[in-house]
Amino acid sequence: MIKVEGLTKFYGDFPAIQDLTFNAKRGEILGFLGPNAAGKTTTMRILAGYMPPSSGSVRIAGFDVLEESLEVRRRIGYLPETVPLYPEMSIWEYLEYMGSLRKVDNLDKRIDAVIDEVNLGDRERSYIGNLSKGLRQRVGLAQALIHQPEVLILDEPTIGLDPAQIIEVRELIQGLGQERTILLSTHILTEAQQICDRVIIINKGRMVAEDTPENLQSQIAGATKIIVRASSETRELVELIETMPQKMDVIAGDSEGEVMISAAPGLDIRPLLARKILDAGLDLLELRTTGISLEEIFLQLTQSEDKDEGEE
Ligand SMILES: Nc1ncnc2c1ncn2[C@@H]1O[C@H](COP(=O)(O)OP(=O)(O)O)[C@@H](O)[C@H]1O
Ligand SMILES: [Mg+2]
Repeated sequence: MIKVEGLTKFYGDFPAIQDLTFNAKRGEILGFLGPNAAGKTTTMRILAGYMPPSSGSVRIAGFDVLEESLEVRRRIGYLPETVPLYPEMSIWEYLEYMGSLRKVDNLDKRIDAVIDEVNLGDRERSYIGNLSKGLRQRVGLAQALIHQPEVLILDEPTIGLDPAQIIEVRELIQGLGQERTILLSTHILTEAQQICDRVIIINKGRMVAEDTPENLQSQIAGATKIIVRASSETRELVELIETMPQKMDVIAGDSEGEVMISAAPGLDIRPLLARKILDAGLDLLELRTTGISLEEIFLQLTQSEDKDEGEE
C-alpha cells in the first residue's frame, strides 16, 4: 500500500531525509517516530504529493507519487501538522467545501458518514472557531477521510491535545486502521507503542531502527538502570566505573555523588559494581536498579546514531 524506496530530500544543501526505505501494508498502522527535526513532516509531505523528493520513489496503492499524482491523491488522506481550518465555517460547511474540492460523489451522505466515523454527530453545526483543539483534530481527520482513502498519512495527530483528548484521538485512529494503511508520525514513544503494529524510528533524516512495539517492549524489559552512590566525588566514581570491562553507559551523575548507569540486558552488574567500589577503598552508600523508560531507550537509539556520525 505504501512503498518508499531510497527517499531523499535536500533543502538547498541540507539533507532533511536520506535514503529512507520502508513499506506498509493494508490494515497496518506504521509508526513514524523521531525527535523534532528528524524529517517526519518532510517525508509525509512527499508521500502526500505536496512536494517532490530530491531522489527516490514513493508508490501509494501501486501508483507512483510523481508520475500518477492524481491517482495517488484520490487514494490518500493527509492530516498535516497544522490543519488549515476555517473558523467561520461550521463543521458541516467545511466538510462540504473539502468534499467538493475532492469531487466526492453523494457528498451529503458521505459527510454524514464521516461525521459519524469521527464521532462529531452532535456538533456538525458548530463553528470550527468555537471548537476545542481535540474536536478540531477530529475535523482534520474527517477532511482526511472524506473521499474514503485507502491510505492515511497523519502528522503528529495528538500534538497539543490534553490527556483525555489524546486517548480519544488514539482510539479513533486505531479504529480507522482496521481496513486502511496508516502512517502516523509522533515523537512520543509510548504513543507509537500503543497504536502501531510496527514502528520506524528516524533521527536526523535517517532510519535508526525498525521494529514491532513488542520487540521494543522486550528491549525495555531487559535493560535496567542502576543508581549507585559511594563515599567519593561523582567524577571519581564515574572514572572508576568506566574502568570496568562490562558494557555499560554512564547516563548521568549529579553533584550529590549519585551516578546513573544503564547496563546491557542479561548480566546483573550490581555485585561486580559493589566489589569494584569496595576494592577501591570506598564505602558503598547506595546501589539499586530502576526501570528504564521508553523515552530513555529512544534517546539511546537516537544518540548512538549521533556517535556513529562523529566517528565517520
Ligand atoms: N522548507 C524548509 N526549508 C529548509 N529546511 C527545512 C524546511 N522544512 C524543514 N526543514 C528542515 O528539515 C529538517 C526536518 O524537518 P521536518 O521534516 O519538519 O522534521 P520533523 O517533522 O521530524 O520535526 C529540520 O532540520 C528542518 O529545520
Ligand atoms: Mg513535523
